[in-house]
Amino acid sequence: LRLPLLLALAVVIGVLTRDATALTRHDFPEGFVFGAGSSAFQVEGAAAEDGRKPCVWDTFNKAGYSFDGSTADVSADQYHHYKEDVKLMREMGLDAYRFSIAWTRLIPDGRGDINPKGLEYYNNLINELILHGIQPHATIYHFDLPQILQDEYGGLLSPRFVEDYTAFAEACFKHFGDRVKHWVTVNEPNIETIGGYDNGSQPPRRCSLPFGKNCTGGNSSTEPYIAAHHLLLAHASAVSLYRDKYQANQGGQVGITLLGWWHEPATNLSQDAAAATRMNDFHIGWFMHPLVYGDYPPVMRSRVGDRLPRLSAEESAKVRGSFDFVGFNHYIVMRIRSAETDSGWKPRDYYVDAAVQDPLNQITEGKIESHPWALGKLLNHLKVKYENPPVIIHENGAAEVPDPPGAIVYDDEFRSEFLQMYLQVLYMSTRNGSDVRGYFVWSLLDVFEFLGGYRLRFGLCGVDMNAAGRTRYLRSSARWYAGFLHGGELRP
Ligand code: NOJ
Repeated sequence: LRLPLLLALAVVIGVLTRDATALTRHDFPEGFVFGAGSSAFQVEGAAAEDGRKPCVWDTFNKAGYSFDGSTADVSADQYHHYKEDVKLMREMGLDAYRFSIAWTRLIPDGRGDINPKGLEYYNNLINELILHGIQPHATIYHFDLPQILQDEYGGLLSPRFVEDYTAFAEACFKHFGDRVKHWVTVNEPNIETIGGYDNGSQPPRRCSLPFGKNCTGGNSSTEPYIAAHHLLLAHASAVSLYRDKYQANQGGQVGITLLGWWHEPATNLSQDAAAATRMNDFHIGWFMHPLVYGDYPPVMRSRVGDRLPRLSAEESAKVRGSFDFVGFNHYIVMRIRSAETDSGWKPRDYYVDAAVQDPLNQITEGKIESHPWALGKLLNHLKVKYENPPVIIHENGAAEVPDPPGAIVYDDEFRSEFLQMYLQVLYMSTRNGSDVRGYFVWSLLDVFEFLGGYRLRFGLCGVDMNAAGRTRYLRSSARWYAGFLHGGELRP
């Protein structure tokens, strides 16, 4: 009898002495989902196993263009460790796991036959998540375009992409939609197009300006807009298919996930303030404006002119309202100057149309700076400018560069601090009326980072990339997140 009495006493003392301002997960809106994420290319490994064929990132890495010369052939090897990873998620108390489906694992030739082994893998992963009470949030396309579609018709530059993507999306809805209730059509189309077609930092390395170090030719002033147009149409096509054929029976939700940099004027000059507004329109409005209002932002039309593709009346109707939620990945704040006031920053390619920019967040002593206020500004901007859409923060997390590279790091107190500061701001935004419905830490595990190889680590859980078995271990941030998810308080 004594133990229950002591426990009851502890609870009463805890409640009486609790800091009135300390928040717990229960202060967030009802049904708010807390999770962590990854993407197929970055986490799975098994690159040539069981019928998976190359995607454009395999080619890019193998040609030696990745940040540290590495590939994602093995990476964290989730393909062979998914059960262990789901166990970690369960221990941490995640409500949901955000992952993506590798196109060339499910449909190795980009179109046509489904690979039974690919089907089996995602069925196993999804079933394992559900068995452990974790909601699967699946991204259909996360940068990993089948290389064969790139070679055959130029990938995103061709309208044929829309057709092939829609068939891939349909395969996902059809085979997994009985269990997956949250779908993301496309991840970060607003950066894939810049990296791939403007500055050459990502596949297929196309750009026409001299400072893209890996460029293979292209046209920076037109191609990013064409590639983005096809991604937008592909998204809308998948959503309309889902709504027509699957949503009523399966009862899921579908959205798109955008990169959500925040652009802040670098000075008090009115030209710089105007440039920052313009940059937010180019970066966020590029997709949000068509999704909410059916066309590209007027400032893009006036600056880009006929280089910006047009949406037909039918396309516009399809795009407008094509989301049940919008995902945002938030990391960076950009300081913005207008080209007129800029005294030395070099305008970069597509930004010639918009504004000059420079990141505010720097990595000092191996750890990224945090600017949590920017998340509040982003959410307020979405509320005011885009009719307060339902939002899920699909990525937010803290980058670290261990010294020496690849060192095992258990203590990442800075990451727990980082996440708590962002969660505080997120909470305030919900109080201020933003319709935010979920928050996913990037990333569950250390993975292959698209622009940082294995030097840059984001994981709540570390992975020893030198160990054949890719040993996982909990960092202190994973323990902190687990405590929060089990009802612990945020530091005020
Ligand atoms: C955004 C991307 O979606 C993800 O793939 C990447 O690893 C993170 N940002 C961190 O850079």
